[in-house]
Amino acid sequence: MGIKFNKSTREFHLYNDNISYIVRIIAGIEQVENVYYGKRLTHRESFKHIMERELRPSCNMFEGSHTTSLEHIKQDYPCYGTTDYRYPAHTIISKNGSRISNYRYLEHKIYGGKNKLKGLPATYVENNSEAETLEIILFDELLNSKLILSYTIYKDIDAICRNTKITNEGLNEFYIDNAMSMSIDLPDSNFEFIHTSGAWARECHLKSRKLTEGIQGIHSLRGASSHIHNPFMLLKRPDTTEEKGEVYGFSLVYSGNFLGQIEVDSYGVSRVMMGINPYEFKWKLDSKEEFQTPECVMVYTDNGLNAMSQTYHKLYRTRLARGIWRDKERPVLVNNWEATYFDFDEEKILSIVRTAKDLGIELFVLDDGWFGRRNDDTSSLGDWFVNKEKLPNGIAGLSKKVEEIGLKFGLWFEPEMVCKDTKLFKEHPEWAIQTPNRNMSHGRNQLILDFSRDEVIEYVFNLMDDIIGNSKISYIKWDMNRYITEPYSLALGADRQGEVFHRYILGVYKLAEKIIAKYPNILIESCAGGGARFDPGMLYYAPQTWASDDTDAIERLKIQYGTSMIYPLSAIGSHVSAVPNHQVGRFTPLNTRANVAYFGTFGYELNLNTLSDEEKEIVKEQVEFFKKNKSLFQKGDFYRILNPFERNETSWMVVSEDKSRAIVGYYQALCIPNEKYNRIKLQGLDSNKLYSIEGREGNYYGDELMNLGIILSKDYTDNSNEYWSRKREDFMSQLFLLNECK
Ligand code: DGJ
Repeated sequence: MGIKFNKSTREFHLYNDNISYIVRIIAGIEQVENVYYGKRLTHRESFKHIMERELRPSCNMFEGSHTTSLEHIKQDYPCYGTTDYRYPAHTIISKNGSRISNYRYLEHKIYGGKNKLKGLPATYVENNSEAETLEIILFDELLNSKLILSYTIYKDIDAICRNTKITNEGLNEFYIDNAMSMSIDLPDSNFEFIHTSGAWARECHLKSRKLTEGIQGIHSLRGASSHIHNPFMLLKRPDTTEEKGEVYGFSLVYSGNFLGQIEVDSYGVSRVMMGINPYEFKWKLDSKEEFQTPECVMVYTDNGLNAMSQTYHKLYRTRLARGIWRDKERPVLVNNWEATYFDFDEEKILSIVRTAKDLGIELFVLDDGWFGRRNDDTSSLGDWFVNKEKLPNGIAGLSKKVEEIGLKFGLWFEPEMVCKDTKLFKEHPEWAIQTPNRNMSHGRNQLILDFSRDEVIEYVFNLMDDIIGNSKISYIKWDMNRYITEPYSLALGADRQGEVFHRYILGVYKLAEKIIAKYPNILIESCAGGGARFDPGMLYYAPQTWASDDTDAIERLKIQYGTSMIYPLSAIGSHVSAVPNHQVGRFTPLNTRANVAYFGTFGYELNLNTLSDEEKEIVKEQVEFFKKNKSLFQKGDFYRILNPFERNETSWMVVSEDKSRAIVGYYQALCIPNEKYNRIKLQGLDSNKLYSIEGREGNYYGDELMNLGIILSKDYTDNSNEYWSRKREDFMSQLFLLNECK
């Protein structure tokens, strides 16, 4: 790995064993040109011979010149209006109202490791030898401002992490109207654009389309990364599959409004950019201030979608998630939301906990409804005082009893919200986000607190601290159940209202950081009405996220399959729930519900006391099975095999790092009569290792399992009667447990 600089040509080559990223300073124009990003190229002193210029009718920067049209130069952080007409990566509005900037190369720095981003989540290194960083510093004389483009390359992870900083070194303020985290001009557009989209209860559905001239993209203007689009997109070659082919991934480490956009121009160049959504954004940068964008993580591979996902999984599991829970095995939990909703008291809870203890479950999570007068979703958010009618011994008493029974205790909060009937709102109506003299829209009967204000964060922190500090709390579920409307902060002047959305998210990060700093041993699971804030930003504070409020196993196949494009299994909150399922009314077998939930953080979300004795025995075995295989599920390499968006079947698998063990999940949504022969071709095994499959006779070489596959047909050679007695059902699933034969 290294970053090489050629002084005479001012070229930078960032590379590790598998990828290269090459940029240079354009002579005369002094801006950054992208020369190449892709599979590793042999390093050479200069890449000057790789010059792509074409004489085209256009405006040029300099009089008499034909080669200085920025419209025809592949750039890494373009501006608009100085011969480039495409959407820009940055726009600065000067005091005189001009939107033209001209940041020119000033200097650069190359150093080992990676700097932290102030107030923002980001990937990190534990040792400076893990990565190298290049900062290219450009300067606009008129604005008296620096633009710092930062690129980090990891040694053993094929990712380039980019962010941008803008400083104001002058005496006059200016406005940042747009500051993307990164932009790159790729030289062609022969790509399929894939992203994950959806809605509440059907998050992260995979969408694919061919790139074409014009603008295509994903975004959020909801104040959260949202259910609608995850802040992630990829470009793959048309023939790229899960196993092979080129992929470029782009993932934004941010939880607020974002934009991911690809503009294909008339010459087939694809301008890809990602960052804070410029709509509803305008940041006033006063003299001596600086603005830091979030980080965008770019992954390249020519080994297919699984390889891209595994790179994100490794980076996000080991160098984005933090704290003791990053590597520690997560507890099997039971959450009371779908078991009781708001209708519970101490005894009801304790009876679930006692049963959970018998079944081997490790953590009980008390969800919404334990505070104020909250017996439905119309009241009390913000009054984080225990409801003594439901819980006479408070959270302190209840958590103590839960621990005495032998489980850890977890608690739900929705820190960013307020209901009108609360002490908080009555005392501080100005703390709710609202536009003066305009209607205040409601979502789930609640308003949003203005987290751009430090005093609000302090107030909420103190209330949470009081509960956490006086009880035995091992886990927090941090929920967020509505989007922002009428964005405005009563604490900011008219000139700063464009900052509200970003300041809000910085406030969310600030509160999370305060809680982590004081309670580093607590495991936080983030949640936003399911997966509305399943993003890398939140993963920095909470190593797991509740993936969806849809707990139906068959629905979850799609949701978890899509989510796995970017996020590791250790981050995907998934539970076994009751039948008929509360979201879709479906009856799925108990083993299928667990077989899906194992591929995530695993837990239960049902009233364990309503299970029959036979079901309890099954649950006991499931819990035992998961505990035995926790580390494989949490840390193994995950492979997608059969895609539920394309067929009736889904399959995926995890393989241990040394390839000695693997667990394969196979799921069939609807039963097919007299079906075709069927095999699942596995991935990621060692071709030369001999594996046994639990419950099957014989041994199989890795190459047999990967090329010929696991044969799914039953062998009836000696017992044809079995054919007629075989159990057939919809929503069937099977797990295959592979162990290396020693
Ligand atoms: C939405 C979450 O996604 C659910 O799991 C549950 O916690 C409810 N909120 C509680 O209001």
